[in-house]
Amino acid sequence: MENMLIRDATVADIRALCVLRNSVAAHEAKLLEAERGTVRFLVAAAGDEIVGFATLFLAHPKTGPAKSHIPKLSDCFVATNYRSRGIGRALVSARESIARLERHTRLFVSVDPVENPRWFDFFRRRGYTALHAEPYRKRERRHSKDGEIEEVLVWRQDLVVDLDGPAGHGSPADLLGCDGRPDGHRERG
Ligand SMILES: CC(C)(COP(=O)(O)OP(=O)(O)OC[C@H]1O[C@@H](n2cnc3c(N)ncnc32)[C@H](O)[C@@H]1OP(=O)(O)O)[C@@H](O)C(=O)NCCC(=O)NCCS
Repeated sequence: MENMLIRDATVADIRALCVLRNSVAAHEAKLLEAERGTVRFLVAAAGDEIVGFATLFLAHPKTGPAKSHIPKLSDCFVATNYRSRGIGRALVSARESIARLERHTRLFVSVDPVENPRWFDFFRRRGYTALHAEPYRKRERRHSKDGEIEEVLVWRQDLVVDLDGPAGHGSPADLLGCDGRPDGHRERG
């Protein structure tokens, strides 16, 4: 997408982030973890508009439940009217690059293969392999679109990719921002 930049989220983004997910508390919690260095909280910005966000856990969070694996991709979201334009892919690619720069050799992700088979297949095609043959059930607290915390029973399947191998590198086009320029996050490398 033209003029899209992937960069770290800042406090100034909270209002725009709430258009995507209406929870100041959730965004503030992730910014706090980012300050502590446990996560990278990325946004996809098109001008003043935030059109997507995603998290990379580099360590277990200081508050809230521990993650199943570290480093781990988490919580990728793209605005409905911006989907299928490569933003989700760019957010994955950016977080893979960060994990590699942080000298991690493997990267994990948990996906719902039942409700979200397209997203699951996307990771499989990218070289991620499932840790277990069958998905498992998990009770999870998550933010609804309106920011309410709800507990839901979901399917999950954990996948891993070898960041040193050919599979963890995506396509050459992925390594550039959607506008063809290097991703904003690289400046922090
Ligand atoms: C899943 C999601 C992040 C994909 O973002 P996107 O910008 O639309 O994705 P891209 O255009 O970069 O395409 C990458 C992959 O995402 C998936 N995808 C693309 N458009 C999608 C859509 N409208 N709905 C669901 N998945 C979609 C596909 O697997 C696609 O790979 P493919 O084109 O090779 O089939 C986005 O649809 C979304 O925010 N969905 C709701 C939240 C969610 O399910 N998040 C993932 C779990 S944390």
